[in-house]
Amino acid sequence: MSKTQILRRQFLANVGQTSPSPMLVEVERAEGVFFYTPEGKRYFDLVSGVSVSNVGHANRDVIEAVKNQAERYMHIMVYGEMVERPQVEYAVEIAEALPAPLESVYFLNSGAEAVEGALKLAKRYTGRTEMISMRRAYHGSTHGAMSMMGEPEGEEWKNAFRPLLPDCKALDFNSFDDLSQITEKTACVLCEPVQGEAGVRPPKEGYLQALRKRCSEVGALLIFDEIQTGMGRTGEMFACQKYGVTPDIITLAKAFGGGMPLGAFVSSKEIMDSLQENPTLGHITTFGGHPVCCAAGLAAFRYLKKHNIVADVERKGALYEELLKNHPAVLEIRRSGLLLAVELGSEERLFRTMELFKEEGILSDWFLYCATAFRISPPLVISDDEIRESVAIIRRVLDKLS
Ligand SMILES: Cc1ncc(COP(=O)(O)O)c(C=O)c1O
Repeated sequence: MSKTQILRRQFLANVGQTSPSPMLVEVERAEGVFFYTPEGKRYFDLVSGVSVSNVGHANRDVIEAVKNQAERYMHIMVYGEMVERPQVEYAVEIAEALPAPLESVYFLNSGAEAVEGALKLAKRYTGRTEMISMRRAYHGSTHGAMSMMGEPEGEEWKNAFRPLLPDCKALDFNSFDDLSQITEKTACVLCEPVQGEAGVRPPKEGYLQALRKRCSEVGALLIFDEIQTGMGRTGEMFACQKYGVTPDIITLAKAFGGGMPLGAFVSSKEIMDSLQENPTLGHITTFGGHPVCCAAGLAAFRYLKKHNIVADVERKGALYEELLKNHPAVLEIRRSGLLLAVELGSEERLFRTMELFKEEGILSDWFLYCATAFRISPPLVISDDEIRESVAIIRRVLDKLS
């Protein structure tokens, strides 16, 4: 048995599995928009670890930052007690980049944890219990975040794990009529400004503004989950800037850590300070804001700014759309910046496409609530030549569908 075969067997036997049919592609190394197997097969990464690798794989600035910080110090003490330079510097730069009054950054390890923290903060600050989310939302896989996967679609994912949090309900994303269900009882409304796992659903004109207005009228906190849309993915550093709507709390993760595990929820200082008392230590974490992760995230954030990467994201996304939209197999392209869902109309066609992608060296994926469309969300640093080359492969695969 070859070394690769042994490793695969061990992977299946000893690494906890989340699906009965994992891809089983071994990764040897990754660089830019590509990763490679031990046999030297190259894959175009059109997923970016689900919107994580925005600055590309093996980004030199991120690697240097990780090395330097790991040599200086790693974990010292539970979160929030020590002054750690990478955390402080990153918080300052994120606060500068976000619209006021979003200035106080609570660091955690992941997206789901950021959502948990944000929900608790909203309950604590408002003294209310009702929490509202959107249908076809995804906010993470912990009990609280999972409770916010709206019904009826979310039921498929969460039903086996009930009982979940009480006092949660879901609205139709983009329904102006549903906004009246947000009332004085509502602690918060949690919403992705562009729904990701629903299969890339951007907001209707004026919807996020109307949502903001309703929340303000009744004193409910508006939480934007920018875990997938943040750090440049939609063509602005944060989608809230693209749509000109400032939430009370924003959650970040994925690309926020520059490839390392890091999440955060950010609010005004006034709101955040409510976690300090009654009870004190309102939210605690051992590893949240790990100095090596913060150093990596900060290096990635600075890289995006220094090279003006985000300014080109909309044009690159439009180029993908332009080059793919006239293929007869493509029914629709839904897009925000470099987050695209290419609609094929049937699961059968989608799964056949995935098989062919694997053979041809393309890594794509479908969406939790949409198994008829494939995802294109490459590292934001992808070049025009790489876009054209990946499109040529995609079109060749789609040609084989008919
Ligand atoms: C919008 C959104 N929120 C939250 C999460 C959960 O993040 P994590 O997997 O880091 O817990 C995801 C993950 O896909 C996401 O897309």
